[in-house]
Amino acid sequence: MIQRRHLLALPALISVGTMAACGDDSTGSGTAAQSSVEVFTWWAQGSGKAGLDALVEVFATQHPDVEFVNGAVAGGAGSAAKDLLQSRLRAGDPPDTFQAHAGAELNDYIEAGQIQDVSALLDEFGLRDAIPQKLLARLSVDQAIYSIPSNIHRSNMVWGSATVLNDAGIDTSSPPASLDEFLEQLQRLQGAGVTPLSVGTTWTQVHLLEAVLMAQLGADAYNGLFDGATAWDGAEVTAALERFEAMIGHTNADRDDLDWPGATQQVIDGAAGYNVMGDWAIAAFEQAQLALGEDFVAFELPGREKVFGFLADSFTLPEGASHPDGARAWLETVSSVDGQLALSLAKGAIPARTDVDTAEFSEYMQNALTSFAQDAICSSIAHGAATSVAWLTAISEATSQFTTSASDLAGYQRALADAAGSGRG
Ligand code: GAL
Repeated sequence: MIQRRHLLALPALISVGTMAACGDDSTGSGTAAQSSVEVFTWWAQGSGKAGLDALVEVFATQHPDVEFVNGAVAGGAGSAAKDLLQSRLRAGDPPDTFQAHAGAELNDYIEAGQIQDVSALLDEFGLRDAIPQKLLARLSVDQAIYSIPSNIHRSNMVWGSATVLNDAGIDTSSPPASLDEFLEQLQRLQGAGVTPLSVGTTWTQVHLLEAVLMAQLGADAYNGLFDGATAWDGAEVTAALERFEAMIGHTNADRDDLDWPGATQQVIDGAAGYNVMGDWAIAAFEQAQLALGEDFVAFELPGREKVFGFLADSFTLPEGASHPDGARAWLETVSSVDGQLALSLAKGAIPARTDVDTAEFSEYMQNALTSFAQDAICSSIAHGAATSVAWLTAISEATSQFTTSASDLAGYQRALADAAGSGRG
């Protein structure tokens, strides 16, 4: 049943050391480092960088004798980092630890024998009871656990400019009740002469697609797309793709030139009404709200039922890396209460462990915590929770062809169905 949801009130500014003085390569201490750790991520800009900086600050306190070497590669969702990582892994030159999404994406590295079982570290760090079962299950294969989670994000969020929406005569006291009402609002924004919905390059288009699929299908049918229970060539997917097509028709012409910060910035600047992005976007909206008084609205993309679009970041222990001790130290910090608190506050995430004191959390983050605990979980495609790297690549190629008009809707759906066929093996 479609439920009416409330707009989230504006949360307070994220307040903990997000802009810490520590530079990218800082050890954060005057102590001569005895070891080092190269940490490979795509947290090179925006809230990702702020989160990494906050984590590095905690690391410097907990492990002053280990030098942090920043291996961050720019590009949202790892769009550039993952290719580089693949070539390094193939060349036998792994970083000491790398960021990977919990879920199907990990299977790629596990099957290739590129990462180690970290079950013993999980015990050593006392994490078994601290990490929720539904997250542990996504890090495990055959009882072994292959990465240490750092944080959880919600993907299916809509961000909107209150000014732009109000100017277009849209009531922002409650969010649209359905996907079709959301589409009506996009039409209204089009009439008002602004970009109704901003989006960026291919991965952000896949991000939008998955949110539409979650909304249109609901949790069970959406999750069935990944185990074969729901057909990609079925009528409900067609209905979702029609709505996706309508949304893309209301987006900015420069979309393929932008990464996610450029797309969300259009909403902040008042050039666009809405943007669909994971909750790492919140820091930019909060900063604009504080600096410019620009109010924003945030709600889950409405649909059949309330769902939590799920993804989690985690860190691995690669086979054959140069500094396993440094990596162990990093994994300890990443999994610690202090590390998770600092990262989450800077990044708009929620911690991967349940025993972190949430008193400092904004209203948005409290809302995300409750939703993760209560609502049906839908694993993200664009962020490696639902699909392997190869399957995601096929979905991305099909999506790019469709949004650049190189295929029609029927061709797009066929390509998605073919990708599923080969993706599930
Ligand atoms: C996701 C990642 C987030 C954030 C986002 C934007 O894949 O899990 O932590 O980095 O990409 O780059």
